[in-house]
Amino acid sequence: PEDLGIGTEIRPRRLEEYIGQDQVKQSLRVFIQAALQRGEPLDHVLFHGFPGLGKTTLAYIIANEMGAGIKVTSGPVIERPGDLAAILTSLQAGDVLFIDEIHRLNHVVEEILYPAMEDFQLDLVIGQGPGARSVKMDLPRFTLVGATTRTGLLTPPLRDRFGVVLRLEYYSPEQLVTIIQRTARLFRIEIDEDGAMELGRRSRGTPRIANRLLRRVRDFSEVGGHRVVTREVADAALTMLNVDPLGLDEMDRRILLTLIEKFQGGPIGLETLSTAVCEEKTTLEDVYEPFLIQSGFLVRTPRGRMATAAAYEHFRLPLAPPATPQPNL
Ligand code: ADE
Repeated sequence: PEDLGIGTEIRPRRLEEYIGQDQVKQSLRVFIQAALQRGEPLDHVLFHGFPGLGKTTLAYIIANEMGAGIKVTSGPVIERPGDLAAILTSLQAGDVLFIDEIHRLNHVVEEILYPAMEDFQLDLVIGQGPGARSVKMDLPRFTLVGATTRTGLLTPPLRDRFGVVLRLEYYSPEQLVTIIQRTARLFRIEIDEDGAMELGRRSRGTPRIANRLLRRVRDFSEVGGHRVVTREVADAALTMLNVDPLGLDEMDRRILLTLIEKFQGGPIGLETLSTAVCEEKTTLEDVYEPFLIQSGFLVRTPRGRMATAAAYEHFRLPLAPPATPQPNL
């Protein structure tokens, strides 16, 4: 199988080993078993959910459980129809084609995908003008696994061509503890229950962050000569990494403090917020805001983003008085 990501070796390979997302696992188990019993490839699957929640991992697991190969690519990488045609014609029957960030496919490429998904037909126009010719080719039956942050980013015709659509949720601290303990075992890191809980609570509900923080905490622990990652060691390391007790990082705090201190708590538009904190709008929307909203620190209103009372409390700041015009002295 093609291996394009670092850290792949710690990915679970079986559905059994995959922690959390119980509804997703239950559904996949049924659809995979049914496809295997019929001797058919699995129907196309779309995963949506915030970054780092395990969409790529599940694509590898699907291929593995189906006894199939996998090709991995992503929306922005496939620039021209020919790029996609090259990938499609290299597939073996039953293979999984994983396209990450599938919402970022451009529309000419996307149109190649429709007949490929629906009829396993490659429909390609070669050349331009009067000499242009259309070529049709049969493709092997394959399973497309797509990943996106939100299904609303997909065009309806693309979205409708997925037989299975599954949503990944944030993980509970307890689930993250299990994931951290599993990764620690694989890396031979000694971490006790409290140490793992401290990490699990401060990982923004996200396995990718939990595993990354675990590696940094290990560095800190080894350099400090600690044999075991305890709560104290984890706390000291996370504090040094600027991860606060609730798992907010520097950008999370900058977003909330900007709203509170510069804009009286809001509401302000995404554009304004993006300029004020020097971060891309899409990164704010897809990476930072979901966690802040889920934690109850930020709300999206029709008039823009607002910091909640909980956010003021978190920073021990007094709630802003209602914006009253200052008397002109
Ligand atoms: N590593 C990353 N995500 C995981 C998950 N959901 N289960 C097990 N190990 C993981």
